[in-house]
Amino acid sequence: MAPEATSTRDFAPAMIDHMHKMRRYKDPDHGTQPTPRIIDRFRVDLDPKGAIASFQPNGATITSNNAFFKDMGTNGRTCFTCHQPQSGWTITPGDVAERFERSAGKDPIFRLVDGATCPNDDVSTLRAKRRAYKLLIDKGLVRIGLAVPATAEFKVEVKPGDDPYGCNTNPETGLAVGIVSTYRRPLPSTNVGFLSTVMWDGRESTPTGTLESDLTNQARDATLGHAQAAASPTDAQLAEIVAFQKGIFTAQIFDKTAKFLTDDNAKGGPSALSTQPFFLGSMPESVTSMATMARPWRARSSSRTSTLPTIGAVTTTSAAW
Ligand code: HEC
Repeated sequence: MAPEATSTRDFAPAMIDHMHKMRRYKDPDHGTQPTPRIIDRFRVDLDPKGAIASFQPNGATITSNNAFFKDMGTNGRTCFTCHQPQSGWTITPGDVAERFERSAGKDPIFRLVDGATCPNDDVSTLRAKRRAYKLLIDKGLVRIGLAVPATAEFKVEVKPGDDPYGCNTNPETGLAVGIVSTYRRPLPSTNVGFLSTVMWDGRESTPTGTLESDLTNQARDATLGHAQAAASPTDAQLAEIVAFQKGIFTAQIFDKTAKFLTDDNAKGGPSALSTQPFFLGSMPESVTSMATMARPWRARSSSRTSTLPTIGAVTTTSAAW
C-alpha cells in the first residue's frame, strides 16, 4: 500500500529541487531590489477606486532591519519583490509593466526561474524578454512548478498542441521530469492573521500546525524557491518575516464615490480591521460588509473557506475567482 501523505508539505522538497535545477538557465541580469528605507506606521497608496492604506499597530518598519526586505537568495529577490504596498502587498500587471519599462527588464522580479513563462525562454533581447515575461507583465502571474506526487490518484497529461508556453512538454522543465507548471498571482502578504489556509491550494497549511508554523515554512520555501537561496534563512530571520506579516493590516480607506470609509463611525480602513477578533467560523464585521459591497461572495478555491476576508483592493483579482 502506498504510504499515506503525512502532510500537505510533502510537496516542498521536489518543488525546491526543481527551482534549484532551473539555475542551469542563466539570468543575464543581476541587481538588487529597489526598496524604501521605511514602511510607515500608516501608509496610504492610491488605487483605481480611491486609496488603500496599510497600518502597523506596532509601529513603522525600517526595511534594513527586517528579513522580509533582505536579499537572502542568489537572484537578487526579496519578499518585497512580489509583495508591495501600493499593490495591496501583492503585484498588479500595471505595476509590473512599469517596473519592466523603468528597468529595461532588469528588476529582480524578471528572473527566469519563475518570472518567465518557462525558465528556458529566450531573454537575449528586450523584445525577447518582453515575450518571456508576458504573463507576469500582462497578468501579474508567476510560474509555480509543482511535482505530481508519487502517490497521486490522477495522471497529468498535456493534450497535443495545448501547451502554449512549452514548459510542460519541455523534457528538462516539464512532465518528463515530473513537474507541472501553473501560473498564479502572488497572494497578499498582509492581513495574514485572517487566513484559514496558506497559498492558493493550501499547500503550506498542515493539519497539526499553527498559522505561525505554516507561515514560517512558507517563508523558508519562498526563500529557497523564488529567491533560489542555497540555504534556509535563520530561525530569527523567519520569525522577523512572520512578525512583519502578522503586524500589518491593509484595506480600502477612501472610495471616489463613497469618500472616506471611516466617516460616520464606518469601520473601513485598516485600523478597524486590526482590532477585529477573528477565529475560524467568524468573519470580521467590516470585512463582511465590504466583501458584500465589492462582489457577490464566492469561495476562493476548493481548499479555501468562505471565512477568508476579501477586502477592497487587497482582493486578488485572479481568474481563479
Ligand atoms: C517571485 C515572486 C514572489 C516572491 C519573491 C515571494 N512571493 Fe510570496 N507568493 C508569490 C506567489 C505567486 C504566491 C501564491 C503561490 C501559490 O499559492 O501557489 C505567494 C504567496 C505568498 C503567501 C500566501 C498568502 C496566502 O494568502 O495564502 C505569503 C504569506 C507569501 N507569499 C509571503 C512571502 C514571503 C515571506 C516571501 C519572502 C521570503 C515571498 N512571499 C516571496 C510570489 C512571490
